Amino acid sequence: MIKISASIMANGFSQKSVDLAQSADSIHIDVMDGKFVENRIISAEEVAKLKSNIPKEVHLMVLEPENYIEDFAKAGVERISFHIETAYNPEKVISLMEFHELETGIAISPETDVDDILKYLDSVDFVVVMSVHPGKSGQVFIEKSLEKIRLIRSSFPLIDIEVDGGINVKTAKLAIEAGANILVSGSFIYSGNPDENIGELR
Ligand code: DX5
Ligand code: ZN
Repeated sequence: MIKISASIMANGFSQKSVDLAQSADSIHIDVMDGKFVENRIISAEEVAKLKSNIPKEVHLMVLEPENYIEDFAKAGVERISFHIETAYNPEKVISLMEFHELETGIAISPETDVDDILKYLDSVDFVVVMSVHPGKSGQVFIEKSLEKIRLIRSSFPLIDIEVDGGINVKTAKLAIEAGANILVSGSFIYSGNPDENIGELR
């Protein structure tokens, strides 16, 4: 079954953006530190205030992700992913997430070799294949990321593969064919009627 995660960044970090996307399966919250990627920092306190009937997931685009896990777990987030490029000790970050009873995810940027994450995929619940450069919404889908999805799917038939960036009806189809089963979408969902657009992606 295909799941849709609504990325609120495209519509601004606000309760309104969360409310508009309640027909999705989860709310995707991009957290940046101004170091790994430029952009403003969204704190765990701000995330805790967001009310949602569907689960909140945090996509950490920060250096030293281990320093953020506890705070976001306490903010009521169900799933967290961190970037392989940012962690000195990925196993430690994964164990910390498990300790806080989070669903664990590992994210990979477009320019990073898929081999860098394969050895960790037996230990996580999901993988986030970035199909744009991390940090901004509204970018064009990088088709080369489809190869990465195919390769991961061929070795890990059961893992959740989340594709993040540039997802619309056309690119969603390509990502699903390649093996993705969770689609993160921001700009497309919020351009027009979010309920209708989420329906179109399903
Ligand atoms: C990019 C973010 C994405 C982004 C997706 O750094 O991780 O979640 O907001 O937005 P669209 O769908 O606009 O590419
Ligand atoms: Zn994201």
